[in-house]
Amino acid sequence: MIALHVNVDHIATIRQARQIREPDPVTGALLAELAGADGITVHLREDRRHIQQRDVQVIRETVQTYLNLEMAATEEMFAVALSIKPDIVTLVPEKREEITTEGGLDLTRNTSNLHQGIEKLKNAGIRVSLFIDPAPEQIEKSKAVAADDVELHTGAYANSTDSLTKESELARLKSAALLAHDLRLQVNAGHGLNYQNVQPVCHLPHLKELNIGHSIISRSIFVGITEAVKEMRTLIQTA
Ligand code: PXP
Repeated sequence: MIALHVNVDHIATIRQARQIREPDPVTGALLAELAGADGITVHLREDRRHIQQRDVQVIRETVQTYLNLEMAATEEMFAVALSIKPDIVTLVPEKREEITTEGGLDLTRNTSNLHQGIEKLKNAGIRVSLFIDPAPEQIEKSKAVAADDVELHTGAYANSTDSLTKESELARLKSAALLAHDLRLQVNAGHGLNYQNVQPVCHLPHLKELNIGHSIISRSIFVGITEAVKEMRTLIQTA
């Protein structure tokens, strides 16, 4: 069964708009878990625009399932991850000015610092996933830097507006998933997935985990987080 990891960043986005205590992403994480989420994902950004270090710490201490910490591959963040010890770290590229994570990591650049950081996390018993575009060179490089998993960026698929592009983006994701599996990398996926576009992605070969945030938290405003998580779970299960 494909695991659903719910990203609760945007509960913190609303809280930070007022810089007060509510709504608390910790409460959201626990309710998502009670509703059937298989794990919780948070992105601790360098600019701390939504999730704060305290959130990650308290979620670490309270979730019963699985904590995925998304972060940039910097010395500061490697130190944070080593102190919080999430179950998995997903390394993502980060630009201060972007609205959300725009592309995958570019592993064709010098990766020696990245490789060292990955080794440190793995030595501390933390799995490491790399958020990458579904391109063969990025998958091969992910293997070369000793990642455990890849998270295939589904943004180009999700944002495509015509069916031909959607089909070709799905085909790219499918080839990427096959290659990653051949190289013994676990296959995860995420970004831009919603109640309308998630089901075709569930047919990707060897897919193990989906990370979904914005659409679930948006729906929660109207139907509550329990219902929003359950509806997404059902779509994944029945795909
Ligand atoms: N996966 C990664 C690596 C991300 O950076 C994000 C956004 O924080 C997501 C998944 C979730 O994307 P969305 O909020 O569009 O569902």
